[in-house]
Amino acid sequence: MSTTPVKVAVTGAAGQIGYSLLFRIASGALFGKDTPVELRLLEITPALKALEGVVMELDDCAFPTLAGVEIGDDPNVVFAGANHALLVGARPRGPGMERGDLLEANGGIFAPQGKALNEVAADDIKVTVTGNPANTNALIAMSNAPDIPQERFSALTRLDHNRAISQLSTKLDVPVTEIRKMTIWGNHSATQYPDLFHAEVGGKNAAEAVGDQDWLENTFIPTVAKRGAAIIEARGASSAASAASATIDHARDWTLGTPDGDWVSMAVPSDGSYDVPEGLISSFPVTVKDGQWSIVQGLEIDDFSRGKIEATVAELAEEREAVKGLGLI
Ligand code: NAD
Ligand code: LMR
Repeated sequence: MSTTPVKVAVTGAAGQIGYSLLFRIASGALFGKDTPVELRLLEITPALKALEGVVMELDDCAFPTLAGVEIGDDPNVVFAGANHALLVGARPRGPGMERGDLLEANGGIFAPQGKALNEVAADDIKVTVTGNPANTNALIAMSNAPDIPQERFSALTRLDHNRAISQLSTKLDVPVTEIRKMTIWGNHSATQYPDLFHAEVGGKNAAEAVGDQDWLENTFIPTVAKRGAAIIEARGASSAASAASATIDHARDWTLGTPDGDWVSMAVPSDGSYDVPEGLISSFPVTVKDGQWSIVQGLEIDDFSRGKIEATVAELAEEREAVKGLGLI
C-alpha cells in the first residue's frame, strides 16, 4: 500500500448520500485497495453531532484503506490540502419541485465553498458537484475560485448516464456490459438529453438496435430525465445510494481513466464544442487519460439531437443569468 493518503473532502457528510458515499470511499471503492484515503468531512454546525455518529460507524468498520477522518463546519479548515472535493451538501427537492427551484436556496452554499477551495485545497484539486442544481452550483464554485484551473470543476450527470444504460439494457434484454458510448448532454434536469444515436450495443448502433423512435422519444428519454422525480415519489426522499454510487464512478474514472473504446458523461466547462456556449458546465461525452478529461469530438449531430441539445443548453444559460442576478458569479 502506498503511504501518502489521498485527501477526499465531502460536504453534506451527515446527509443521505453521505451515509452511503463515505463507506464506499473508505472501503477503497474510489481509488482501489492499495491507496489509503483521508476523509475530510464538512457539515453545518447543527449536523456535526450526527456526523460524529457516522464517524463512529466508520471507525467500527476498521477499513484498512481509511487513514484518518477530520470533521468540521469551516470549509477553510476542512478543505485544507484536499485532492478531491465531492460537494454533496445542499437541500434536496421535494415532490412537485424541479431541481432549478433550488437555485436560490443552494446557490449560496457554493460561492463560499469555491472561495475556500481556492485558498486551501491542494494544487491538484478536482471538484465534483453532486448537490442540486449541480451544473450551476459547479459554475458558482468555479467562478469563485479564480486560481484553480477551470477544467478541475465538474458536475454529476453520471447517475443519468447509469440510468440510461440500465433502461436500455432492460429494453433490449442485454447485460449492461454490452452497452458503450452512452451520452447525457446538457443539464442534470428534466431537459437533459440521453442520446442513443451514438451509443452502441454489442458494437452496433443502439438507436438502430432499438428500432423504435416512439419508444426512444416517448418512453426512454422521459423515463431517464424524470427518474429522480419518480424516486422521490416512490421513496419519499431523493435518490441516495445510486447518487453515491454514481459520484464514486465519476470521481474514479476522472482519476483512473476511461476504458479504451468507451466514454462517460460528465458535466464540464464547455470550450464551445457542439456549439455549447463556452463556460457553461454542460454534460458531454468525455474520455479521461492521465487524470484529464477531453470532450469526444467529431460526433455527427442530427436535427433531432440538435434540438434536444439546444433546449437543455438554453436552460443552463438561463440558470447562469439567474445566478448572475443573485450576485453569485
Ligand atoms: P440530505 O438533506 O440528506 O443531506 C444534505 C446534507 O447537506 C445535510 O446533512 C445538510 O446539513 C448538509 N448541508 C447543507 N448545507 C451545507 C453546507 N453549507 N455545508 C456543508 N453541508 C451542508 O440530502 P441528500 O439526499 O444527501 O442530497 C444532497 C444533494 O444532492 C441534494 O441537493 C440533492 O438534490 C442532490 N442530488 C444530486 C444528484 C445528482 O445526480 N446530481 C442525485 C441525488 C441527489
Ligand atoms: C436525482 O436525479 O435523483 C437527483 O438529482 C435528485 C432529484 O431531485 O431528482
